[in-house]
Amino acid sequence: MIGFLQGFFDSSNLAPHGLCLLWRPELIWLQVISDAFIGLAYFSIPAAITYFVSHRTDVTFGWVFWAFAIFIWACGTTHFFSIWTLWHPDYGTEGVIKAITAVASVVTAIGLWPLLPKALALPSFEQLSMANDALNIQIDERNVALAALQAEKVERLKTEEMLFQSQKMDAIGQLTGGIAHDFNNILTVILGNIEILAEAVAGRPQFATTAKIIEDVAERGAELTQHLMAFARKQPLQPCPTDVNALIVNAERLLKHALGEHIEIETMLEADASPVLVDPTQLTSALLNLAVNARDAMPNGGKLTIETGDIFLDETYARNNIEVSAGPYGMIAVSDTGSGIPASILSKVFDPFFTTKAAGKGTGLGLSMVYGFVKQSHGHIKIYSEEGHGTSIKIYLPRSREPASASDYLIQDTSIQGGNETILVVEDDIFVRNYVDTQLRRLGYVTLLAANAAEAIKLVEDGAEFDLLFTDVILTGTMNGRELADEITKRKPSTRVMFTSGYTENAIIHHGRLDRGVWLLAKPYRKSDLARMVRTTLDADKPETQ
Ligand SMILES: Nc1ncnc2c1ncn2[C@@H]1O[C@H](COP(=O)(O)OP(=O)(O)OP(=O)(O)O)[C@@H](O)[C@H]1O
Ligand SMILES: [Mg+2]
Repeated sequence: MIGFLQGFFDSSNLAPHGLCLLWRPELIWLQVISDAFIGLAYFSIPAAITYFVSHRTDVTFGWVFWAFAIFIWACGTTHFFSIWTLWHPDYGTEGVIKAITAVASVVTAIGLWPLLPKALALPSFEQLSMANDALNIQIDERNVALAALQAEKVERLKTEEMLFQSQKMDAIGQLTGGIAHDFNNILTVILGNIEILAEAVAGRPQFATTAKIIEDVAERGAELTQHLMAFARKQPLQPCPTDVNALIVNAERLLKHALGEHIEIETMLEADASPVLVDPTQLTSALLNLAVNARDAMPNGGKLTIETGDIFLDETYARNNIEVSAGPYGMIAVSDTGSGIPASILSKVFDPFFTTKAAGKGTGLGLSMVYGFVKQSHGHIKIYSEEGHGTSIKIYLPRSREPASASDYLIQDTSIQGGNETILVVEDDIFVRNYVDTQLRRLGYVTLLAANAAEAIKLVEDGAEFDLLFTDVILTGTMNGRELADEITKRKPSTRVMFTSGYTENAIIHHGRLDRGVWLLAKPYRKSDLARMVRTTLDADKPETQ
């Protein structure tokens, strides 16, 4: 074997290739230069391929590139060897190099064919750029969807927050309303009896002073209870078509007095503003509350602006403000140039007893009352405030189809006056019943007493005669005050009816509004209120049955 190999590579008896060219220099140099260029070019190709493949590890069929690089490199070597064999007849070595080249080229060629279908399936540049464009469109769409999702998330959080806020207000309202209801009865009795007591001890100064203290404190309690009822949306409202511009003009003197000299009042009233359906007395009181808040926020003076206008709250607004129905509203905006409300407490200002004022300076019930009143009136209230710049509170009230009438529902103020008519008093609270009984008899009236509807009907069936039925709206038993009134007026159509209630979510007040022609004495009431209301009801035209 060694002998064979030695013979194979022995070139001593071979002639160099140049001899075939008869050492003609032009042929020799043409060969040398051409082979050198081809060889160099062949060497540069695998270098480029190596560089490419090593930098693009993601390229498919990478091994083919390597095989191709070896094959080209081998070809280049054969060309350099051709230059060598012009002078040195090492044909054995040249043969081996050619054999290696042959193997490399055959392997590359064989490997290439099966790859063809796969290579053909590779996407073209055009296809890739189309796919890229489609991908970019998808990315854009996804970005838009993501932005919408984000906006929706923000919106949802806002709605959740609003829902939480409104649920919180409802829950506090229910609790407050329940407590205030019971306190009303207690205060009616205290206030009524203290009057009797005061009359009895009029000649004994030390007891008279004590009675006065109790009366003052009970009155303060009654006022607080009334405020709580207003917040709980349970105060008796007497809505009527109201001209807000006229109401504001009328209230201006009151507001000027409350605000003081250092605050300027500007009114911007929309001419021909539609009438709204609201209790005018309560609206004036709400405006006064807002004005007082504005005054407190402008200790060094400033400006209070009251605007009115017809506004349409659209679906988008309604969606963003739960509890608001889209539609036309009458708007009243009260704005000040005061200290503003920090964003951190803005969601709390309607909470009952929330105040930033020093102890004894504010109860924190002002805005709660306004809130409850507006909600009970089927309106909407919105507060805008910028710390250091001022506050603007907008009240939206339902518009009225009927024109405003100034005197509608207003109870004529009559002086305390008794009478001799007979009054059937239906009241389940024994203390209140006894108090009313005493007061009415002192006023000269004849009284009949019943603790519930069944007792009252029994009296009617027994032939009792009376001119006025004075009944609590909420009664223990199967029938409420309203049903009792219907039953009795059916049997005795000439009977007048007067209701009393501390709690209005019931039969005579539909959705917080008092029926037209219904007389209601809100608890707690004083002797003077009772006397005035009884007289007014007895003297009024016969109310239409509802
Ligand atoms: N116009 C306003 N400017 C700045 N802060 C206000 C304004 N209105 C209300 N506030 C803030 O809201 C809080 C609650 O107001 P709200 O009217 O319910 O109670 P109050 O004014 O503190 O007490 P009260 O009304 O019983 O006198 C106030 O203490 C104040 O911090
Ligand atoms: Mg206030």
